[in-house]
Amino acid sequence: MNLSVQLAPKNKQGLLLANPVMTASGTFGYGTEYSHMFDIQKLGAIVCKGTTLEPREGNPQPRLAEIACGLLNSIGLQNIGVKAVIREKAPVWASWRVPVIVNIAGETIEEYAQLAGELNGVAGISGIEVNISCPNIKAGGAEFGSNPTSAAAVTKAVKSATSLPVLVKLTPNTSDIAKVAIAVAEAGADAISLINTLKGIAVDTAKRRPLLGNITGGLSGPAIKPVALYMVYEAAKVVEVPVIGCGGITTASDAIEFIMAGASAIQVGTASFSNPRAPLDILEGIEEFMEKEGIKDIAELIGVAGR
Ligand SMILES: Cc1cc2nc3c(=O)[nH]c(=O)nc-3n(C[C@H](O)[C@H](O)[C@H](O)COP(=O)(O)O)c2cc1C
Repeated sequence: MNLSVQLAPKNKQGLLLANPVMTASGTFGYGTEYSHMFDIQKLGAIVCKGTTLEPREGNPQPRLAEIACGLLNSIGLQNIGVKAVIREKAPVWASWRVPVIVNIAGETIEEYAQLAGELNGVAGISGIEVNISCPNIKAGGAEFGSNPTSAAAVTKAVKSATSLPVLVKLTPNTSDIAKVAIAVAEAGADAISLINTLKGIAVDTAKRRPLLGNITGGLSGPAIKPVALYMVYEAAKVVEVPVIGCGGITTASDAIEFIMAGASAIQVGTASFSNPRAPLDILEGIEEFMEKEGIKDIAELIGVAGR
């Protein structure tokens, strides 16, 4: 059986994955935290925690709230900063056979470009995932990813700063996902990943106050799966670049739904918190499904539900 997928067919370096199962940024640390739990080298790719130019401490506690069928988080991009990633993490990744993709976030277009430039050519880094759903930015606090024009501007700036494959990660907090997908694809994105979390809140009824320290948080987990699936379906219809599906994927059956809806690869996020082996379980489940159905190549499944 062939499970391999090429996520950057137009990029010189390419981004060939042995299989379509990736981890989602912010839910799998730097990969190193999970390497003693199962053979993470078997996965298609690992996407590390969102990385900024300077280290960040993140938002005030509490930052997590478990809700029915999902999770609200307001971590606020707590991370060690790009220099420490290059110095401490990349040398470890360079010894792995699983490709590692660095997720980046900036407050300005210039910051995104600078991050991409610093990561360019670093051994152990196989690609960049651009998180354009980051709040608190210069242009009136609007999110880059909710607007096709600003989403394209960030994509262009990152592409001109690196020769690495560039995945652009879209936010569901937009009125027209297809327009944003087209804009970033035209701006040169090698692939598009979606979705990031949906904005939400929870209220602590004893305190009569919002539960999260940051008031708002991002909703993830099974609760968002149908929304994510819809957005993947819509995006895959209008762009030629590979689409990577993410949002509530907990089982192999969930993953296969995303692949049939048009995803060339999938990312496992919140599911890893309740089952750290979830990405590997999902990979093994996809293999079982293909064997049972007599499918020789994963390409036979990609987008079949949209044709
Ligand atoms: C605790 C937590 C931290 C996250 N941190 C990031 C991040 O740093 N960068 C990013 O692009 N997405 C981040 N995400 C979003 C996930 O990568 C993913 O897009 C989202 O959770 C939906 O997938 P899921 O339902 O499988 O978790 C985070 C999600 C969670 C739950």
